Order: sequence, then C-alpha cells, then structure tokens
Amino acid sequence: MDQSFPTWTFDKPCTSIQWNELVTAELVVESIGSADQLNDADLVMVGVMAPPKDDDSDDSAEEEDKDKEEEETTPVSLTGIAKEADVLVGGALSVVMQENAKDFQNGGKTGSMTPTLRVVGADKKSTRYIVLGLGKTPKEGDDEKKKDDPLATAGHSLGKAIADKCNSEKKVESVVVVLPSDLVSKGTVLRDLSAAFYETLYSDNRYRTGKKIKKAAEDLKKVTIVVEGGDGAPDAAAAIEAGRKLATGIFMAKDIVNSPHNVLNSVSLADTAKRMAAQSGGTMTCTILDKKECEKRGMGAYLGVARGSETEPQFIHLTYKPKSGKINKKVGIVGKGLLFDTGGYNIKTAMMELMKFDCGGAAAVLGAARAVAALAPEGVEAHFIVAACENMINAKAIVPSDILTASNGKTIEVLNTDAEGRLTLADALVFADKEVGCEKIIELSTLTGACMVSLGKGMAGVWTDNDDLAEELADISKVTGDKSWRMPMEKSYNEQLESKIADLKNIGTRYGGAITAALFLQNFVSGKKPYAHIDIAGPVWSDKIGATGYGAKMVAEWVRRQGLEE
Ligand code: BES
Ligand code: MN
Ligand code: ZN
Repeated sequence: MDQSFPTWTFDKPCTSIQWNELVTAELVVESIGSADQLNDADLVMVGVMAPPKDDDSDDSAEEEDKDKEEEETTPVSLTGIAKEADVLVGGALSVVMQENAKDFQNGGKTGSMTPTLRVVGADKKSTRYIVLGLGKTPKEGDDEKKKDDPLATAGHSLGKAIADKCNSEKKVESVVVVLPSDLVSKGTVLRDLSAAFYETLYSDNRYRTGKKIKKAAEDLKKVTIVVEGGDGAPDAAAAIEAGRKLATGIFMAKDIVNSPHNVLNSVSLADTAKRMAAQSGGTMTCTILDKKECEKRGMGAYLGVARGSETEPQFIHLTYKPKSGKINKKVGIVGKGLLFDTGGYNIKTAMMELMKFDCGGAAAVLGAARAVAALAPEGVEAHFIVAACENMINAKAIVPSDILTASNGKTIEVLNTDAEGRLTLADALVFADKEVGCEKIIELSTLTGACMVSLGKGMAGVWTDNDDLAEELADISKVTGDKSWRMPMEKSYNEQLESKIADLKNIGTRYGGAITAALFLQNFVSGKKPYAHIDIAGPVWSDKIGATGYGAKMVAEWVRRQGLEE
C-alpha cells in the first residue's frame, strides 16, 4: 500500500515529518494608469479609507458626541481609481457601500468587506467586485506616535482578509487589490501583508488522502496589488519576498504543532532542525546533544522528564550567524518542546488530546529559525534552543516527590509531574545563559493553563523584569499581530516555591499559577540579564484552524531588531 505519510513501525518510532509548502500563487505590486484594466481580473478588491478628522483629541464630551453622530451618518466616499471603478460598474460600488454604511462609516474596520458584486461585461467576462475597508487615515502628527499608528499595523489584517476572500471565492485565478500608496509604503506593511497572505493559505494535507485533500485558494494564480497615488511602493518586490520567507517559518511552526505524537516525537523534531540547517545555505548550524551529552552537563531536570518516553531526549541547538559583518548582539531563543504531555503520573484528566500542541514554543522557535535563515538579518548571532522530549509514563518515569538536580546545581522537588515544562526549560535556560553566553534571552512555552484562564486564547503573557525588553516585545506584537500582554513578576509569591526538602518545588498554590511558573524559571537565568518568559498556552491553538503558528513571526522580527542596535 502506498503510504502517504511516514508513520511508525511496531518496533521503531517515526524519524521524520513532512513539511507543507506555500501556495504557488504569486503576489506582485504594480501601478496602473486607469480603472479599465481592473475588468481583466476575476476579482477586484477596492480599498477605501476615510479621510482624517480635523479636530483635536482634547474635545469636550459634547463635541465628541457630535463627532460620533457625524461619523455614523457620513459614510466614506470613493476617490481616484475607486471612483473610476464605480463609474465602470454603473455606480454599484457606491450602492453597496451605502447599503453597508454602518460597517463602512469612517473607513470601516481594517479588513472588513462588502458582499461580492458580480459584473458581467458585453464579452460575457464576469468580474467580481468587493469594497475593502482600510480604517481611517491617521491625523497629522500621528506618525510620531508610531506605536499607535493604525496604518503601520494594518498589513497583517489586510493580508489575512485578502487571503480569506481568495480562499472562499470559487474559480478565481486573478485578483487585483487597489490600495493607497500612503498605506502600502508605510514601514513593514507590505511585508506583513505578504506574510499574512501566505500564512492564511495554509492547509495541512499531510494526513488526508483522495477527496479529503483541501487545497487553499485552489485556482488562484496571481494577486496584484495596485498602488494608487504617491510614489508607489519602493522595494515592493523585496518586501513581498521577505513576507514569503516569514510565511515559510510560520508554516514550519504550524506543521510542528499540527503533527500528532506518533509522527512527531523528539527524534523527528531533531531531524526537522537538522534538515533546516542543511537547507540554510551555510548560515545555520545544528547540534543535537544526546542523552550522554545532557548527562555530562548535569541536565537532571530535563532528563528527569525525558525518562518516561520511548524516544531518547534530543537537545536541539541551532545557531544562526550572518555570513559577514560585525555582530552587535548574541541572543538566545528557548522554546518548550514537549512533543506530548500526558501529565505523567499526575495524569491529565482534561484536554489531553490537545497536548500535541505542547511543542508550540519549540515550533515558534524553529519556525523563526527557518525564517531568520532565509531573511539573513545582519549584526545578530541567534541561538535557537529546544530541550525536546515527551511527558509519558513507564517504569522509569519520574513520580511525584522525586528530587531532580538542574545543570546550575539547584535541586527541585517534583510535586506534580504535570508541571514538566519548567523542568525541561530550566536546563535549556542554563545552557543558553551559561554555556552559550547569550546576552539576552527570550523563551516561549505553552506553560500553564492558568495563563489561558487570565488572558484567553487571543494573546500570550509576557513576564520580564526588564522594561526595555518588555517594550520591544509589545511593539513587535502590534506589528506582527502576534498579540501579547505584560504580566506581573510578583516576587512575594516566591514563597510558594519553597520546598521542605529541596531548593525549590515545581508548583505553587492553586491561584496565580502562571506567575509562579514565571518565577520558577527566573531561578535558571543569571541576575540582571535581560530575559523574558512568554506563555503561549492560549494563542498556540485555535479550535477552528488548529495550529496558529503563533510566535514564529514575533521571534523572527525580534531577532532582526537585535541586529540593528547601536
Ligand atoms: N502543557 C501544560 C499547560 C497547558 C495546560 C496548556 C492546558 C494549555 C492547556 C503544562 O505542562 C501543564 O500541565 N501545566 C499545569 C501546571 C500545574 C500542574 C501547576 C497546568 O497548567 O495545569
Ligand atoms: Mn504538563
Ligand atoms: Zn506541558
């Protein structure tokens, strides 16, 4: 029988996974002279943006009310190519906008759309038209408040909206999207749009056969972004290519999280890291520390967790170095890589079937590594580190009350085998800090259900004592759409981690579990070194789409920015 995906044999675990490829549709940027050309496309999306309001923010409450009322009654009007296109379709665009005036007042929400209009020409060629909301033009001076500039962060939502539409419309080969140059030429908008466009067209067909295979935007061949006004978009092709490269990283992250444990174990994850290094064209090297190497380094916390598994521990260390130039920063990115978390002897009684996503941190880290190798940022040396293993049960698995010694010498009383992530991370952090000598470390992990309870599924929690690092991560979150929120590092809760018999115990009390987890990890990074713990338990997985690829873009962008400093 033809086996479409590699699986295991009775005696041996699976040793590699398949990777999904980006869709082949092209994304290009062009400027056109007139709206006539639009009719050649199968689908036209006309972006509209509301003009800026000319008042100040120090309005009285009364005036504000008046403004609000005005907003609600003045839908945005069409100009330029949009207006020409409207004439071309006999005013149908204005009509549909008026009908949807509530959604389109003030430019609508970025990425919002009207229903699809069909226009059939004399030659029987049918073109579909949609009005695409772009939000409102920022006021004069908004540029300085860059962090809150809605234009600068619009790329992500637009790319996603465009891709979703291309996917849901049937039999569409060519698409034209008309966007103003003000928007397209801003910061990383085009790059973010491209990344989100390709990322959204992810479809995991590795475990489907025959009719069950679902291709994303099946007939799509080309999306042309038509830039209107200004000087067009400089370096558009490079920006789109950069977005594609980010998307390959996000695909990698999704492929890792979506793979079930009988396909993706620590050995097949290590294989993925090795293959990525082999394909990097020499910028990335991969070292795998085996059980013996980890023992030599005294990684007792990590090895403790790994004991119960069929596959041996694989400590993954990928290093990215630019081909030339000065290195400004040496950074570490650590990801929790539990290929499955049964809970161990404290076996899970809820949501165990979701625990293939417990490698979400590793997926973000390795996905980012793939994007970084492709983007080749200058000035930064990046170390991607994953202590990969599974949390399983066998005769050798740890039991509650066992005491483990981490590689920095600290002893840990394991009072709950289900708080395993922090044990593996302890040794990974010591390695990044002490052995590699990273100057700055961020770490991503699906660490606690408690973080999900506090922040929901839409964002990650960020814990750090370093305000600059917190700010950096917050800004990156806004641009990439990988949302996060800073959380308190409440030192008084350290009391909860005191053990009667060892240096530390691995759980606190029932409440504030995401905070005590963050405090626990601080024991394994030295003093003042900038370090951030990012709990991604919520955003890693969507009940609707499965793996979200969360964090890959955030980490890739963080690494790029580290190279820029001084
Ligand atoms: N991988 C889980 C965290 C998790 C649980 C993420 C549910 C998403 C949904 C982690 O290893 C874990 O089991 N954490 C425990 C910690 C507790 C035993 C202190 C938790 O959150 O329940
Ligand atoms: Mn667990
Ligand atoms: Zn876990």
